[in-house]
Amino acid sequence: MDLMIPNPAPKGTIFDTHAHYDDRRFGEILDDLLKTLPEYGVCAIINCATDFNSAEKLIKLSDRYTYLYTAVGYHPLDIPKTGDLDIERLKSYTANPKVVAIGEIGLDYHYSADNKPRQIEWFEQQVALACELGLPVIVHDREAHQDTYEILKKYRPKGVLHCFSGSVEFAKQILNLGMYIGLGGTVTFKNAKKPLEVAQYIPLGRLLLETDAPYMAPEPFRGKTCHSAHIAFTARKIAEAKGVDYVEILEKAKQNAFQLFGIKCVQG
Ligand code: NI
Repeated sequence: MDLMIPNPAPKGTIFDTHAHYDDRRFGEILDDLLKTLPEYGVCAIINCATDFNSAEKLIKLSDRYTYLYTAVGYHPLDIPKTGDLDIERLKSYTANPKVVAIGEIGLDYHYSADNKPRQIEWFEQQVALACELGLPVIVHDREAHQDTYEILKKYRPKGVLHCFSGSVEFAKQILNLGMYIGLGGTVTFKNAKKPLEVAQYIPLGRLLLETDAPYMAPEPFRGKTCHSAHIAFTARKIAEAKGVDYVEILEKAKQNAFQLFGIKCVQG
């Protein structure tokens, strides 16, 4: 499969800490794509579940590819209108050795502000489980900075705030909690003033790279189906902002991910 990527990253340098390869948009090409990505520098991917169905699909997928890992959890936009979170079922998935985090969990007041108390309740329960199990969290926060921060401050989980959309001031608060910051395609967008300021500000030791594939493809692929090899372009933009070589950004972010998620087995 030709991914049509000019100047791809060196082999074994890309760790994508946030993707959704169970998404319908990958359809028929999924296996060809997953077989090809390592040739374009990808050495590890964490697939983030959005509900139980997706958790089961992604765990099965990770059984077939050594370099795929899974995060299990309920995304704020997928919380059902009624019923309680089956925390025991969520916990049972973490027995699989390829499950390395609780996610994607969090708060989204942009698309769904009418069920705030319910979002908060499910988020808290999942963060508490992560702490109990000693697993990191992968957190989604859209227009919910303050409430997200309060919960993270209360439980102090290890983890990452993914697709960071806050200010430098908010990044400071998150870093003070000891957490990592995940940056993706948005740093390459035309009006990306804030994400670039954040990229410049955060120390290399706290940076994770991600796609949110199939969404958020970086320039020059914006609007297309995003995949993990596109991270080379995100890294180049961050490298430009920080004045360092992009391979150094990739390597450092990869080491950070190894450390946070306790991962050793990757594609060479
Ligand atoms: Ni996501």
